[in-house]
Amino acid sequence: MSAFPPGFLWGAATSAYQVEGAVAEDGRAPSIWDTFAGSGEVACDHYHRWPADADLMAGLGMNAYRFSLAWPRIVPGGTGAVNPAGLAHYDRMIDGLLERGVTPVPTLYHWDLPQALQDRGGWTARATADAFADYTDVCLAAFGDRVGTWLTVNEPWVVSVLGYRLGLHAPGERDLRTSVLVAHHLLLAHGLAMSRIRARRPEARAGIPLSLFPTYPATPADAAASWASDGYTNRWFLDPVLRGEYPADTSSLFERLVGPLDWVRPGDLEIIGARPDLIGVNYYTRRLVAAAPQDGLPWRVLPAQEGVPVTDSGWEDVPFAFEDLLTRLHRDYDVPLLITENGGVWNAGPDADGRVRDTGRTLALHRHLLALTRAMDAGARVLGYLHWSLLDNLEWAEGYGQRFGLIHVDRSTQTRRVKDSARYYARVIAAGAVVEPGAEA
Ligand code: FCB
Repeated sequence: MSAFPPGFLWGAATSAYQVEGAVAEDGRAPSIWDTFAGSGEVACDHYHRWPADADLMAGLGMNAYRFSLAWPRIVPGGTGAVNPAGLAHYDRMIDGLLERGVTPVPTLYHWDLPQALQDRGGWTARATADAFADYTDVCLAAFGDRVGTWLTVNEPWVVSVLGYRLGLHAPGERDLRTSVLVAHHLLLAHGLAMSRIRARRPEARAGIPLSLFPTYPATPADAAASWASDGYTNRWFLDPVLRGEYPADTSSLFERLVGPLDWVRPGDLEIIGARPDLIGVNYYTRRLVAAAPQDGLPWRVLPAQEGVPVTDSGWEDVPFAFEDLLTRLHRDYDVPLLITENGGVWNAGPDADGRVRDTGRTLALHRHLLALTRAMDAGARVLGYLHWSLLDNLEWAEGYGQRFGLIHVDRSTQTRRVKDSARYYARVIAAGAVVEPGAEA
């Protein structure tokens, strides 16, 4: 394809609880993930090792880094007193990134809600959205002079569904009605944060990173079920943010299942629907759907299909779905896109010579970048590509067994090893074009 546009962001992504460790340092208070999992005490020790990690990024040619600001470091009680040591940490890190030519792309909320707010209802309480807006203001005042791109609330679908319907993520609840209520408060938090960003930093660009799953019917007879499932995972978030309304079909489904959505107040959808500058696209795999009820919803998501390649965690590795997603977002919503996550689990570790030959990741990266360029050729406006993840890290409830990193982390020594996939990625960045994998694969 045509060259990537000037200013294209090339980098990788992490989130605070997954990499930082130092959970009790410098005034950080517990978050819901300390309570739920408690496995982040050390993580990748990125809280202390970020300068060396930033050197690695710069050495690979990356010009951007998506990380998250930990609310429990900055406003440990969720509301009220600001912790200067928490701000000072990110202040140094943002300066350190800029000194290395790496654009900081912070996410304001990547799931580590202060436990103090959970004790007051967490995301079931509308006041948590207000607290998030105030915390956003604190971050803008501290970093807004150096941060030009802001991401608000990471993956409200995952938070609401895994955290509140399936009980797999913090805080571990299992109730559909609560899950739909929480999704609204997360979207409201995004909208309120956007208005604070607009007010304080009109020149900044900002948006929400969504987990998006291209959804396909298993057979033509499953088309309606597939569309319904798309409403549940994708349109329930895209439509309010980009069109100022919840999709009617999914609203009726939820009303049938849980009763009136009476937590939506007049004016909320105007707040949520104030146009963002971009949508953050977190893409990993597709969903293949059949028209058969499961777990109280009128469709079933099929397991990985025979003959379709999978990652080491069993997710279908289907780059065509990435292309479909990007062209669909362009067609249906016409909004600039920032790839805020894309990647997969390949667990290769160091060979005897110390080299990490993660061929699966290299090949998948190559094919996903080709899919990206095809979508861009078809008109999708893409601002950058941030691979998930920079480092092997804490994969939430899954622990440390799933390696998503471009850089291998030895859990016992914290030694970093640049994997073959990262070397390949560095060649792409240097060329500004999707080169063929060579020695790396
Ligand atoms: C996404 C999360 C991210 C990471 C990847 C694998 O849902 O945003 O933190 O865990 O999945």
